[in-house]
Amino acid sequence: MTIYLNGKFMPIAEAYVPVLDRGFIFGDGVYEVIPVYSQRAFRLPEHLKRLQSSLDGIRLHNPHSETEWTRLINELIARNAAEDQYLYLQITRGVARRDHAFPQPPVAPTVFMMSSPLLHPAAELLASGVSAITASDNRWLRCDIKAISLLPNVLLRQQAVDAGCAEAILIRDESASVDGFMTEGAASNIFVVKNGTLLAPPKDNLMLPGITYDVILEIAAADRIHCEVRRIGKAEVLSADELLLTSSTKEVLPVTTVNGKPVGNGEPGPMFQRLHMLYQNYKRDVMRQP
Ligand code: PDD
Repeated sequence: MTIYLNGKFMPIAEAYVPVLDRGFIFGDGVYEVIPVYSQRAFRLPEHLKRLQSSLDGIRLHNPHSETEWTRLINELIARNAAEDQYLYLQITRGVARRDHAFPQPPVAPTVFMMSSPLLHPAAELLASGVSAITASDNRWLRCDIKAISLLPNVLLRQQAVDAGCAEAILIRDESASVDGFMTEGAASNIFVVKNGTLLAPPKDNLMLPGITYDVILEIAAADRIHCEVRRIGKAEVLSADELLLTSSTKEVLPVTTVNGKPVGNGEPGPMFQRLHMLYQNYKRDVMRQP
């Protein structure tokens, strides 16, 4: 596997980062995950725009222009053999003596990119759907930043795995007297389907603005699916006709059980079938463009 680190392409076995890197010490950095189909990065301008807003969110200067990123990313893709890949890109505030405050004067950021083969969700998974639990969203209030400090997400995903499930659906502001509302998954966005309407939570500071989330809403609107973007209560999640999970690596998956109970009739529903087909068509059309 060829990776990119601070200006050089090299085998992953030769890539090292000093222990005082602020990514290692503080989780002080941001990242992106970009799918690649047929050796072409999917929605690259949108991923680079989200990277810029994550960098703005942590007050870190973008080390590259959009043109430079595009060139580096395309070179990394070409240096790796798989037709379909997923790229992981990370920028940290660099290597400095340990001090919470930013290094003064600023040091060079650490820029790392790697590519892995993109494994498409297995046909059996699309046919059966995945299981999820609901869990209390105990993360910070800037979930719109794609920060590498992912400890809450790691613990929430593990809580799901310990329950034999694939994902945790996160509920904010839950208490004994208040029901709370859904934000997203531990590493995905979540849509609710009720009476033929596709419901999506609003892109605010409490969720990551998913690139796949945007694609789903675009293709749904183009196919005249009725969509509503608004806060979704926990009760609506638990009484949904269908639940859908989206991310760059999973595309769109049906969630067929929540907290051990079936969602709708417990099988992937018509909205999932329709959006999954539209998503595959959309990908094919985009990849055909010059
Ligand atoms: N995660 N919300 C969270 C918290 C995520 O971590 C992700 C993706 C998403 C979906 O965003 P997108 O559609 O842009 O992939 C939503 C990536 C895949 C990861 O951390 O591996």
